[in-house]
Amino acid sequence: MEIIKVKNYDAMSLKACELILAEVKNNSKPVLGLATGSTPEGLYQLLIERYKSGNVSFEETTTFNLDEYVGLPAADSNSYFYYMHEKLFNHIDLPDTRAFLPRGNASDLQKECLDYEKIIREAGNIDVQLLGLGLNGHIGFNEPGTSFDSRTHIVELDESTRQANSRFFASMDEVPTQAITMGIATIMESKKIILLVSGEKKADAVSRLVNGEVSEEFPASVLQKHENVIMIADEEALSKL
Ligand code: F6R
Repeated sequence: MEIIKVKNYDAMSLKACELILAEVKNNSKPVLGLATGSTPEGLYQLLIERYKSGNVSFEETTTFNLDEYVGLPAADSNSYFYYMHEKLFNHIDLPDTRAFLPRGNASDLQKECLDYEKIIREAGNIDVQLLGLGLNGHIGFNEPGTSFDSRTHIVELDESTRQANSRFFASMDEVPTQAITMGIATIMESKKIILLVSGEKKADAVSRLVNGEVSEEFPASVLQKHENVIMIADEEALSKL
């Protein structure tokens, strides 16, 4: 795993932006895997700026998001569909037809999981997958204990993950209990993975990811087995290495 150490959140976002733009410009049909959460917000802002200043076009890009809550309509302001449109898709020229998220309100969720795997495969798999890091080592919504062989599936969310995400909801009761997520095997098939980590609260997780054993009890540890992972982390996130 290559570790790029940067000063702070803004520097992390800038470095990630450079790497994503290089992929989008050098690949005639780029396929990006995207994440939600607080970590990539700065990156998405920069991508919008670069697009608006005529630096890049996303017309040939396809995107697949990692995950979506189960039970929230797409129009709900807490859905990841809504997040992605607000924070990126509405402001760039990425065609709607090539911006994919799992549909958490699909009538047949099992079929939705299989279909999601199929469209990723048909797109030729993901060239660059962006990841954030959960405090408990989750990637996507793959919580501790998830099989490294998992494909896109339905998960019961950990209490700690619901708690961490409750800041976006009016009350804890409104935080969904399930999500659809790409599986760990799905993520590991990406040709390149860019993991973004910022802030002191992630320092323990980063230390365990880099120095701990590879174990399903800490899902992100699987990244040690991937040949092309770049972690862009700021000084605080790396403070316990
Ligand atoms: C989001 C996702 C999650 C987050 C992780 C970190 O699509 O899959 O794994 O990347 O929970 O979240 P933040 O960035 O809010 O700290």
